[in-house]
Amino acid sequence: MTEVSNETRFLHAIEMGLGAWQWGDRVMWAFGQKYSDKEIREAFDISLNLGIRFVDTAEIYGSGYSERLLGKFLKEIDQPVLVATKFFPWPWRITKGFIPRALKGSLERLGLDALDLYQIHWASPLLSAETMMEGMLECMQRGLTRTVGVSNFNEKHMIRAYTTLARHGFPLASNQVQYSLLSRDVEKNGTLARCKELGIRLIAYSPLEKGLLTGKYSVENPPPGVRGSQYVELLKKLPPVIKLLREIGQNHGDKTPSQVSLNWLIVKGALPIPGAKNIKQAEENAGGAGWRLTDEEVAMLDEATENIH
Ligand SMILES: NC(=O)c1ccc[n+]([C@@H]2O[C@H](COP(=O)([O-])OP(=O)(O)OC[C@H]3O[C@@H](n4cnc5c(N)ncnc54)[C@H](OP(=O)(O)O)[C@@H]3O)[C@@H](O)[C@H]2O)c1
Repeated sequence: MTEVSNETRFLHAIEMGLGAWQWGDRVMWAFGQKYSDKEIREAFDISLNLGIRFVDTAEIYGSGYSERLLGKFLKEIDQPVLVATKFFPWPWRITKGFIPRALKGSLERLGLDALDLYQIHWASPLLSAETMMEGMLECMQRGLTRTVGVSNFNEKHMIRAYTTLARHGFPLASNQVQYSLLSRDVEKNGTLARCKELGIRLIAYSPLEKGLLTGKYSVENPPPGVRGSQYVELLKKLPPVIKLLREIGQNHGDKTPSQVSLNWLIVKGALPIPGAKNIKQAEENAGGAGWRLTDEEVAMLDEATENIH
């Protein structure tokens, strides 16, 4: 087990964050239909009031709108908030120089001089992990970000990124990957264990499986839009999982399926970043942190979701 580096210790101290993909995205989340800036602001404010201090965005969310909105909010609050965003490896971005340039664009939209965490959104066939990390090193050396991470990197790519940074004396802070009770590949393919071993924080995206683990969706009432077709098979397997989540929640003062699902990730050693479209969702999600499922409950949830894909 590698000791967590001083530079990245802050990430390991955070139990949960807030995802900002919803902030401006019309394709997956239908921003502008049932929610807009006002609801996002309320979700952000309640999250802060309930102790959430880490927001994850990306330059592609709402084509920059998510970063702009966060920048506006940051100007209007007193509390410090840790900010993470991501570089998208568009096929025309073929040299390492694109990375600090893209970061400057993100910082401008965010109204910040430096980030807390800059992440590569996806691995790319056109830019090697080594070249990407050289671009990230430049970002750190120029003081544009405190730490750097990756996202959607498999174990092999993650190790290459880690090794490149380590050669220059810098840590790989995080790997942001899909992880929920209904998406447990990172447990099976070794990524979670490797992250723990190397002191890399595993950030869990889609921790509520895009709303499925809230218990509000079913075969009869599927999620709207793209998610409806994406989850046809998974919805059929959902009822016993939601039933168990509700039963376990009762042992902890009526915690909801969402809260139990988020807590399961925290106990597993991940940092969940649920997205929320309004104050009610954000308030509920914040209640997923600050307490702990028992080992026995975690084992029951593991068993109930072992063979679900
Ligand atoms: N690195 C990557 O490639 C990547 C990929 C995906 C996400 N992410 C990050 O991870 C964050 C979270 O993932 P995600 O947004 O995909 O999925 P998620 O957090 O699993 O689900 C979010 C959605 O679930 C519903 N929801 C959330 N909380 C709820 C509650 N308490 N009660 C009822 N419904 C609730 C809302 O949608 P409805 O109300 O419409 O159901 C919400 O938009 C993103 O915002 C983003 O920052 C990163």
